[in-house]
Amino acid sequence: MHKKFEFEYEELDAKEGLGPEDLILLNAAFKAVDTAFAPYSKFKVGAAARLSNGQIILGSNQESASYPVGICAERTLLNSIGSQFPNETIQAMAISYLPNGVASDHPLSPCGMCRQSLLDYEIRYKAPIKLILAGKTGKVMLIPSASHILPFGFTGSILDQ
Ligand code: THU
Repeated sequence: MHKKFEFEYEELDAKEGLGPEDLILLNAAFKAVDTAFAPYSKFKVGAAARLSNGQIILGSNQESASYPVGICAERTLLNSIGSQFPNETIQAMAISYLPNGVASDHPLSPCGMCRQSLLDYEIRYKAPIKLILAGKTGKVMLIPSASHILPFGFTGSILDQ
């Protein structure tokens, strides 16, 4: 049987097309870029999440002299929320970046490990996390659920068998 996987997302020409709440979140992600510690890659990533209580929490990539020990902005943020706000749902996460100090003009696509962590959090909180992806300027991608970018992801349900 032939099957097909599809998902829908929105693409905006510029961040000005975002609603007020999402624009605030994306601007917060731009701000979080400043807290990145990326002396090795020089690729600074910032993420901002809006929680169900309305709070906005920031995260950024934190690299290590032992390269694989470094952690992406998205997982820094998710793990910080999981430990500090275990009872809040994550409604949306905006992610932006600054490569080598040069303003970026297209969205960043989260890495595979972060996609898994995002899926873990959607399952843990039983709520979709909307993703808002953008560079400093240019197009913005709005993805209604992080699970869309990890098709056939490992949900852990098989562990219960
Ligand atoms: N990075 C992130 O923080 N998020 C991503 O989605 C992709 C990559 C970081 C990891 C590393 O510190 C740097 O960007 C270069 O890969």
